[in-house]
This record gives sequence, C-alpha cells and structure tokens, in this order.
Amino acid sequence: MNIILLGPPGAGKGTQAQRLQAERGMVQLSTGDMLRAAVAAGTPVGLQAKAVMDAGQLVSDDIIVALIADRLEQPDTKAGVIFDGFPRTTAQADALDAMLASKGLELGHVIELTVDEDALVERITGRFSCAKCGAGYHDRFKQPRQPGVCDACGSTEFKRRPDDNEETVRKRMAEYREKTAPISNYYREKGLLRVIDGMADIDVVYGEIASILNGKS
Ligand code: AP5
Repeated sequence: MNIILLGPPGAGKGTQAQRLQAERGMVQLSTGDMLRAAVAAGTPVGLQAKAVMDAGQLVSDDIIVALIADRLEQPDTKAGVIFDGFPRTTAQADALDAMLASKGLELGHVIELTVDEDALVERITGRFSCAKCGAGYHDRFKQPRQPGVCDACGSTEFKRRPDDNEETVRKRMAEYREKTAPISNYYREKGLLRVIDGMADIDVVYGEIASILNGKS
C-alpha cells in the first residue's frame, strides 16, 4: 500500500515513517532527506536547493518531482511507499497522481497529523538524529535508551539540521499554511484523507496509523 503522511514541520511525519519502514517493510520516501543527501554530496540539485532550504522556503516543483520520479523507478518501492514531505503543493499532488497512474499504482490513504503550532517549535528545536543511520531523537520526547548511543546502530555521533532554528521554523510553517495545507482538501474530495491528532504520544499516533493501515478504523 502507498500512503502520504501530511502535516506541518515537526508534526511527526519522519518519526512515524521510520517506524512504519522498520516494522512493516514499507519504504520511506522523504523529499527532505533526499535533498539533504544531495546537499551533502554537492550535486547540482543540492547546490540549487541549499539556500532555499536554509531560508525555510520550498524547493521548486520541477526538482522535487524529478527526485520522486527517479526514486519510484527503484524496485524496492514495490513494497509500498510512505511519501513523507511530498507532495507539498497542488502541482506536486497532480504530478504524483500522474506518476502513480502511469505505473498502475494507487494511493491507499493520506494521513494528516494535526498539531498545535506552538508545540512544533519545541519539537523541532529539540530534534537531533544519528549521524550514521539517521534515526531520529528528541532532547525531551525521545532520548536514546542509552544516553549518547543510537538505539538503531550503536553510533555515538549525532547531528542537528541547520534549518531547525526558531526563525526558519516559523518561515517553514508559513510556507506550509500557504502552499501545503490546501492539499488536504484535494485529498478529502478524493475520499482519501484521514486525520489524526499528532499531539498524542508517539506510540499512540503510531497505533492510530497502524489501525488505519490494518483497515480497523
Ligand atoms: P523536510 O525534511 O520534509 O522537513 P519538514 O516537512 O519541515 O518536516 P520535518 O522533518 O521538520 O518534520 P517531521 O514532521 O518529519 O517531524 P519529526 O518526525 O522529525 O523538509 C525540509 C526542507 O526541504 C523544506 O523546508 C523545503 O525547503 C525542502 N523540501 C522538502 N520536501 C519538499 C517538497 N516536497 N517540495 C518543496 N520543498 C521541499 O518530529 C520532530 C521532532 O518531534 C522529533 O525530534 C521527534 O522525536 C518529535 N516528535 C515526533 N512526534 C512526536 C509526538 N507525537 N510527541 C512528541 N514529540 C514528537
């Protein structure tokens, strides 16, 4: 099954997508992670995207759609994809429809995580991840089980994102309100939208998503 996780910065899309990938064998396609990998590798896409990301704005639809189109060519995506951070504009949503249709694939659900904006700043500014495997953590809400050691791979090196400061977070939220929030109606009209309280505990949110995927709610 292919799903979209929709929600503002810090809503928990990446946290839930990582767990769905680990526990259900689905494949997380995070456009944010793809762009950060391109920036780190110094590719032409990365060079173009860096300043835009650092400013908290959206990278152009052309770049993003090309990244997703390439990634969907990989055979592992047949296991079922979690689109995390994509689509973010109605143009991207249209492009996704066309890509899926051309491959004979369907969207099962679009799951929107709703959150209180003030809490998002705390979530994002407290976020860090394993520098080796990318597993995500939080200073307050999700510490590694053994302090300073990644639960997933045992690495002791962690990193923080350059766009995870309060000023940039507020810009990312404004972009979300203006350009991304309208696409929830797009999916509501298609009968695909499911809305979950993203303020609940991480395990509770995961349980709600699992119930939807299992056809139990
Ligand atoms: P991207 O990397 O996609 O960032 P984002 O959408 O801003 O989302 P985040 O990764 O910040 O949040 P999340 O919802 O994944 O939260 P997380 O699970 O980590 O995009 C970055 C940039 O790339 C964009 O600004 C843009 O420039 C560009 N870009 C990317 N995609 C694009 C596209 N399609 N089009 C154009 N440009 C694009 O959770 C946050 C923290 O909270 C974590 O520490 C976690 O442990 C904690 N947490 C999670 N859930 C809970 C909970 N329920 N309770 C308490 N804490 C929680």
